[in-house]
Amino acid sequence: MSVSPILVIGATGKTGRRIARSLERKGLPVRHGSRNAPTPFDWDEPETWPAALAGVRAAYVSYFPDLAFPGASDRIEALTRAAADAGVGRLVLLSGRGEPHAQHCEEIVRRSGLDYTLVRASWFAQNFSEGYLRDPALEGMVALPAGEVREPIVDVDDIADVAVAALTEPRHSKQLYEVTGPHLLTFTEAAAELSKVVGHPVRYVPITLEQFHAHMTGIGGAFIADVFTEICRETLDGRNQSLGDGVQRALGREPRDFTAFCRAAAAAGAWAQAA
Ligand SMILES: NC(=O)c1ccc[n+]([C@@H]2O[C@H](COP(=O)([O-])OP(=O)(O)OC[C@H]3O[C@@H](n4cnc5c(N)ncnc54)[C@H](OP(=O)(O)O)[C@@H]3O)[C@@H](O)[C@H]2O)c1
Repeated sequence: MSVSPILVIGATGKTGRRIARSLERKGLPVRHGSRNAPTPFDWDEPETWPAALAGVRAAYVSYFPDLAFPGASDRIEALTRAAADAGVGRLVLLSGRGEPHAQHCEEIVRRSGLDYTLVRASWFAQNFSEGYLRDPALEGMVALPAGEVREPIVDVDDIADVAVAALTEPRHSKQLYEVTGPHLLTFTEAAAELSKVVGHPVRYVPITLEQFHAHMTGIGGAFIADVFTEICRETLDGRNQSLGDGVQRALGREPRDFTAFCRAAAAAGAWAQAA
C-alpha cells in the first residue's frame, strides 16, 4: 500500500524547501505546495486547495507574505476547514514570535478540531543569507529599526528540523514550540559575526520606524511598508528578548548558534558574490 504524502505549503521558501528536502531524504512522499507545483497551491486561489490537500496525512503551513497581512486569518480559517474536509491528520503551522496576528492564527488552528503543532519562530538568521537582508549584507550595511534590542536569532535549519519532527512523530500533537536560537544578540553583535564571514565589514545602522517605512515604501509601496513597519514595531520592541525552549523540547538537543550559522552559510556560498 502506498504511503500518503505530506503537503509542504511554501515548499520553495526558506523553511519549506528544507522541510521538503528533509522529508524526501527520509524516503517520505512529499506534495510540494507551490504555485508552480504539478498540483498547484495558491493562497489567492482557494479552488486550488482541495486538490493540494486531498489524501494528505499532514500539512506544513507557512503563510505568504506574513500572518500580519489583512485577510491572513480568514485564509487560515478557510484552510483549516478545507483540511478537515480532506481528512488531513495534522497541521503544523509556522507562526511568528511576539506577533499578535500570528497568535490569533494559532488560536484558529488550535480550535479547528484538527490535530496540530504550532511552531512559533523568532527572527530568522537566513534573513541575512537568503532573505531581504542578503543584498544589504553584501553591500556592508544593514539598517533596521531595532535599536540595541537583543533578539534570539534562530537558524531556519532548526525550524525545519522541528517541523519535520512535528509532521512525522505523534508525540508533537497539540504542542506549541517557541523556536529560538541559543543566545540573545544585538544586531550590532550579529553584524560583527557576519563581518567575519561575508568577506568585508558589515555594519548595523539603527534607524527609526519612520525611516524604515520610507525605505520600504520605495521598495514595495505604501501598503507593504505599513504592514512590515507594524511587524517591526511589534517584534523589535524588546518583547522577544528571551530564549525559547522549542528546539530542546521537540528535538532533545540545543539550537545552533549564530556563529555556526554564519560559518555554514559562508561555506555553502551564501555571500559568494562578495568574495
Ligand atoms: N523572516 C523571519 O524572520 C520570520 C520569523 C518568524 C516567522 N516568519 C514567517 O515565515 C513565513 C514565511 O516562510 P518562509 O520564510 O519559509 O517563506 P519564504 O522564503 O518567504 O517563501 C515564500 C514562499 O511562499 C510561496 N508563495 C508566495 N506567494 C504565494 C501564493 N500566492 N500562494 C502560495 N504560495 C505562495 C512561495 O512559493 P511559490 O513562489 O513557489 O508559489 C514560497 O515557497 C511568513 O509567514 C513569516 O511570517 C518569518
